[in-house]
Amino acid sequence: MALHIVRLDPARHDRARFDCGTPSLNRYLRVQAGQHQRDGIATTHVLIDDADSANVLGYCSLAAAQVNLASLQPADQKRLPHYPVPSVRVARLAVATCAQGNGFGCLLLGHAANCSLQLREQLGARLLVVDAIDARAAAFYRVHGFRETADDARTLYLPLGKT
Ligand SMILES: CC(C)(COP(=O)(O)OP(=O)(O)OC[C@H]1O[C@@H](n2cnc3c(N)ncnc32)[C@H](O)[C@@H]1OP(=O)(O)O)[C@@H](O)C(=O)NCCC(=O)NCCS
Repeated sequence: MALHIVRLDPARHDRARFDCGTPSLNRYLRVQAGQHQRDGIATTHVLIDDADSANVLGYCSLAAAQVNLASLQPADQKRLPHYPVPSVRVARLAVATCAQGNGFGCLLLGHAANCSLQLREQLGARLLVVDAIDARAAAFYRVHGFRETADDARTLYLPLGKT
């Protein structure tokens, strides 16, 4: 098995075959991800195995975002300017049902954090932020160090780099 995370190529990646058990996340990959990528709304990164490089094992979609300073936990507000905090949103993240439980969700989250840190060489990005689709997904993000915002238990953030 040789895993890679690459930018979605609608001509190459078989989006119809992808099933993560959550219809809205399947539909996003099948119908919207390519369009959003073309339009600059979100860029989708897919996890593939060289042995079957059309098969999408998992994906995450990333977009620019901002978070109100007051939404952060008090300790995380320290030393930050009093305007919205520049962030990267994990707009969608899903792993195919048949591939879940192998650390791929964790791998995609790590990739999202690395991409954000690379972006930070070009523009400010202080947080990785996510709107978890349900309480189960929120638990997944909390396990990986995400913190709850004051707004909503399902909107979580991860400070990037030195905090
Ligand atoms: C949530 C999801 C992305 C997790 O992906 P995955 O590849 O199965 O997760 P991983 O194997 O990387 O799990 C890594 C760790 O998180 C833990 N974890 C996974 N799902 C979890 C959950 N729902 N709650 C708490 N912990 C969870 C695992 O136990 C594992 O911990 P360990 O290394 O200590 O054993 C995947 O189950 C999925 O796509 N679900 C349907 C869509 C969804 O809910 N997406 C989130 C959208 S916001």
